[in-house]
Amino acid sequence: MIVYLNGDLLPREQAKISPDDRGFLFGDAIYEVARFWRGRPFHLEEHLDRMREGLAALRIRVDAGFYPDVAQRLLAANGFLESDAIVYAQVSRGAAPRSHYFPPAETPPTVYAFARLSDPPPAPQGGRAILADDERWSRCDIKSVMLLPNVLAAQRARDAGAMDAILVRDGLALEGTKANLFCVSGGVIRTAPNGPRILPGVTRGAAIAAARAIGRTVEERAFTVEEMFGADEVFFASTTLWTYSLVQIEGRAIGDGQPGPVAAQLCEVLSSDFTRDPGFTRG
Ligand code: PDD
Repeated sequence: MIVYLNGDLLPREQAKISPDDRGFLFGDAIYEVARFWRGRPFHLEEHLDRMREGLAALRIRVDAGFYPDVAQRLLAANGFLESDAIVYAQVSRGAAPRSHYFPPAETPPTVYAFARLSDPPPAPQGGRAILADDERWSRCDIKSVMLLPNVLAAQRARDAGAMDAILVRDGLALEGTKANLFCVSGGVIRTAPNGPRILPGVTRGAAIAAARAIGRTVEERAFTVEEMFGADEVFFASTTLWTYSLVQIEGRAIGDGQPGPVAAQLCEVLSSDFTRDPGFTRG
């Protein structure tokens, strides 16, 4: 496996990051994950915008413009130019003796990236989830690597035999540990509004646009756990899943206990948009 580290492509075993790296010591880093079909990215500009916003919020001076070129180089070097693959990139504030204050301005940030094949599509019969208190900070809109609450909730879900946990704050079912959350009630699609309580998911945005384009009503407002249990459909949206139905939450069936038609329709639109022949040949 060939990875990217600070300007170089190199075998993963040779990629060395300092133990003083602030990503390691403080979680002082952001990351991004975009998906590529035969080298063609899905909604790249939105991923770059989110990376720019994260870097600005953390005051890390790196131009997100490194990502498209690095992604192409990684896809090529790993033989993924004809595949469905994802490219993970992480930028930390760099390595410096441990201090809560920012290191000197000339400290180079650490930029690390790797590519891997996308996971196979999840089981068609839909997934099960548990509920977990949302123990995250109040800037969930930043795609920070500081993911401990997500990690703990995801593991609790796995221990319970579920695919994921739905994070609940103030009685509102906000999102999964690595996916945005939607429900459908009486034909209306709902999802929490962008803001500090959720990650502004690229797939979330694409799903909303796709739903509106096919004439469906979408309301960007948070819904309560009770509303979710009463919904006809509940589904996740993320880069790795597209949209994916949750058929059981905390052991209670959602709707008729089967994957719903809205999630299936949006999944079809998003995935066929992803693999669509753009009508030109890559140079
Ligand atoms: N997770 N919400 C959270 C908390 C996430 O971590 C993610 C993505 C999403 C969906 O965002 P997008 O549609 O842009 O992938 C929502 C990535 C895939 C991860 O952590 O690996």
